[in-house]
Amino acid sequence: MTRVLYDVLQDLVHVPEPFAVGGPQELWSDPHVQRQMLAFHLDPDIAAASRDHAFIARSVGWIIDALGVGEGTRVLDLGCGPGLYANPLAEHGARVHGIDLSAVAIEAGTQRARSDRASFEVGDYLTAPLPDHDLALLIYCDYGAMSPTDRRRLLERVRARMADDGRLLVDLHSEHRFAQLEEGCTVAERLMDGFWAPGPYVGIHQTVRYDEPRVALDRYVIVEPGRTRTVHSWAAHLSLEQATAEFARAGFQVTDVLGDVAGAEYDPTAPEYALVVTPRSR
Ligand SMILES: C[S@@+](CC[C@H](N)C(=O)[O-])C[C@H]1O[C@@H](n2cnc3c(N)ncnc32)[C@H](O)[C@@H]1O
Repeated sequence: MTRVLYDVLQDLVHVPEPFAVGGPQELWSDPHVQRQMLAFHLDPDIAAASRDHAFIARSVGWIIDALGVGEGTRVLDLGCGPGLYANPLAEHGARVHGIDLSAVAIEAGTQRARSDRASFEVGDYLTAPLPDHDLALLIYCDYGAMSPTDRRRLLERVRARMADDGRLLVDLHSEHRFAQLEEGCTVAERLMDGFWAPGPYVGIHQTVRYDEPRVALDRYVIVEPGRTRTVHSWAAHLSLEQATAEFARAGFQVTDVLGDVAGAEYDPTAPEYALVVTPRSR
């Protein structure tokens, strides 16, 4: 017991190098956490796992109009959750394939599909074969949750399967958001109202800032009577210039800079922004 406590406290006083530990599987693959996430996705008013549903309706409308989605457009939704974007796009005529690590979210997306043009798959977009597509979506700032190596890997994989005139719509955390972030540590019984485990537990939530290279870590230590686990949630905050250079290195050029994935105007003082990128000529 003392040993476990010592290890937990040792971990808390030592911070890992950015992106050195954790990864999407750690955060997204626990079945209880998946069910909690699904409840957040499906709550129309909570912007936690997905944005609120009024925003998503506007975003889908904007994607259809501004990115020219119509009959037969091949859409690849990376980290699609329960298909809140994929399903309405398929109902509009697109052929949409959604991929997500969460089996619970994919089951919900499949059940909610009203068009056979939507297909869903449990998989890791960093390793699973990706289909040919005209438009790729990576929505809700998941790009910055990946290490620089994984970001590059994903972009190269997407580009390899994208039509020459295809587009990727992606949103990112801004430098401004990072400037507002504060470090801190909270200890609470059933931290986040039972989000992390169905039974009793004590949760520790620590926020760590890495000024260089502008990365934030939310580290959760979940101590249940019979097990202790740590979950790392990383968030890179890229300037517009950094993001543009990063996409260029992976063979994309930025065609539009926006405030969000519903087409708002870019605002450098907002916590997020969005980009439309297209393959540079091959
Ligand atoms: C913040 S949610 C956003 C879901 C959806 N894009 C939306 O806005 O409604 C991120 C989703 O990405 C999925 N995810 C994260 N990393 C992934 C990976 N490497 N491969 C597949 N899915 C991933 C998670 O399971 C989760 O459902």
